Amino acid sequence: MAYRYLGNKSRLSEWIVNQIARHLPEGGLVADPMCGTAAVSQELALRGYDVLAGDALVFPTLHAKARLLHRHEPEFQSFGGYSEVIAKLNALPGETGYFYREFGDKGTPLERDKPRLYFTAENAGRIDAMRSFIRQAATDGCISGLEHDLLLHDLIMAVNQVANIAGTYGYFRSKISSNAARPIEIQPSSFSFNRGAHVVIHGDASTVLAEHQVDAIYLDPPYTKRQYAGNYHILETIAREDEPIARGDGGLRPWTEDASDFCYKRRAESAFREVIEAANARYIFVSYSEDGQLSPTTLLSILSDYGEVLVNTQDHLRFSSNSNAKTGTLTEFLYCVEVK
Ligand SMILES: C[S@@+](CC[C@H](N)C(=O)[O-])C[C@H]1O[C@@H](n2cnc3c(N)ncnc32)[C@H](O)[C@@H]1O
Repeated sequence: MAYRYLGNKSRLSEWIVNQIARHLPEGGLVADPMCGTAAVSQELALRGYDVLAGDALVFPTLHAKARLLHRHEPEFQSFGGYSEVIAKLNALPGETGYFYREFGDKGTPLERDKPRLYFTAENAGRIDAMRSFIRQAATDGCISGLEHDLLLHDLIMAVNQVANIAGTYGYFRSKISSNAARPIEIQPSSFSFNRGAHVVIHGDASTVLAEHQVDAIYLDPPYTKRQYAGNYHILETIAREDEPIARGDGGLRPWTEDASDFCYKRRAESAFREVIEAANARYIFVSYSEDGQLSPTTLLSILSDYGEVLVNTQDHLRFSSNSNAKTGTLTEFLYCVEVK
């Protein structure tokens, strides 16, 4: 099953990098500072670019590290190999920890009087056990930093397969679905090794770009009012390895500090300008949807302040996280600017 992430560009990444390649030859350094699933970062790396990937949330940086930074099959020496450590994780018996209590269908959440149905109790307990194992292996020095981050990435990918949600983690389904009823199973990642000089950084795009000179920026910001920090709170909790207070019916971690200005109609324009000006790059590429907070005319007018703008379009299947949402295709815009 594909990774259902709002604005995921897996199906468009080849087309996007084709457009970038018309302007910037391979070998250039491209920043993807709002990398999400890291689908575009990965395609850029495969096509011979050096990549600086980042995101304001932590879990996307785990995806970027898994997709960009491995130079060879991970060794996991203390466990006798990568498949061995994955087999060990999959064989762990469940624990009645934080996930079991807050997100399992037999849990007793601290701030809700009935269970949240994000997972079956069995899967929630096994997620607890997998989290403890990964944390302990890192504390004991049995795995490297990159191996630790890879296991968290693999755990997130497995969690996505059994989460009882209708698209995002903003809320759970009222009954356990057939996918969610299946036992969680971590699969080893497959790698596309390349020798690019890639960097992955967690942080706000403007801050990251102010500190790193790049040839081009590829911006793919949120384009609706839906905040990623709230809609993917469970993945962020896995990535941060913490146990925040799970608030309200949905059990969201406190997320307002991670709210993105791109999600507010009134702040999106200045958020764009801030990132572009912090970067000071020769080329700007922007993915944005016709459904965005800013209309195509407004975005075109902002980008025109920095140079001549070429607009490419591609029809794309609409992401829908509930059955009442709009369906069908939507036009995805890729704006290309050579900065004057
Ligand atoms: C449309 S998604 C990116 C999708 C990505 N291109 C992919 O293919 O999966 C937008 C991303 O921007 C991140 N984001 C939002 N505001 C940000 C900011 N100010 N700085 C860095 N990342 C930000 C979100 O966390 C989210 O992962």
